[in-house]
Amino acid sequence: MSGTGRRGDGATGGGTATRGRSDAETRGEDTPGKPFEFPNIIEPPPVELKAPVDWSVIFGRSAPLLIEIGCGGGRTVIGLSIKHPELNCIGCERAGEYYRLLRQRATKRALPNLKVTRTDAAVLLEKFLPDACVREYHIYFPDPWPKKKHHKRRLLTDAFCAQLRRTLEPAGTLYFATDHKEYFDEVLPRLEKVFSIEPLAGPWPDAPEGRTNFEVKYIKQGRPIWRLIAKQK
Ligand SMILES: C[S@@+](CC[C@H](N)C(=O)[O-])C[C@H]1O[C@@H](n2cnc3c(N)ncnc32)[C@H](O)[C@@H]1O
Repeated sequence: MSGTGRRGDGATGGGTATRGRSDAETRGEDTPGKPFEFPNIIEPPPVELKAPVDWSVIFGRSAPLLIEIGCGGGRTVIGLSIKHPELNCIGCERAGEYYRLLRQRATKRALPNLKVTRTDAAVLLEKFLPDACVREYHIYFPDPWPKKKHHKRRLLTDAFCAQLRRTLEPAGTLYFATDHKEYFDEVLPRLEKVFSIEPLAGPWPDAPEGRTNFEVKYIKQGRPIWRLIAKQK
């Protein structure tokens, strides 16, 4: 879908409706034209995030964080929180439509180590995460905003990469994948400034069929995917 102008875009893939959406909707606004407002709520149960956040109080225990940014309906972050009971896991999603699905699934699963938040990831990192608290970041298929005039909406800016670095533990890891070569080429030197990068030539060893809805779909379509693993220098 990327490169066609159909995805800027807040789509989650894997069967959720994505067509005919306005820019406002794809940016995550519930009501087109309404100014951007993110509730910055983490749940279940719903708690308003107020800086500085004590994550050990939110989760009821102290543990490093695992965060999936732009987690759509939550398939991947739910799987990760089952796989990593030792980590406090957060699914961060901006678009209301997908967040509602994510919240529904997270509530139904009632995993003690999973919380979901409808917060812009840039705000989550900057305002609500202390230094070196994240063991793992997962960022899969961030909206590539393929039109030049929309590049400024891309998530992985220099400032955002600096926040990733600040919040990642010294031994922490960032996993990143995209099907958008031009976005990958833009992001790679940006991440290389702050992290040691291991590009990954093939699929994820633990999930050759793909880790996320988008990835599973793109692998089936035979679309090339660029992946990397980043660690603190
Ligand atoms: C293209 S979809 C990929 C979804 C999922 N990661 C996958 O690979 O199947 C990108 C997702 O990131 C979300 N997103 C975009 N910008 C975001 C931001 N600033 N903060 C949090 N989520 C964001 C979108 O709403 C959308 O659900």
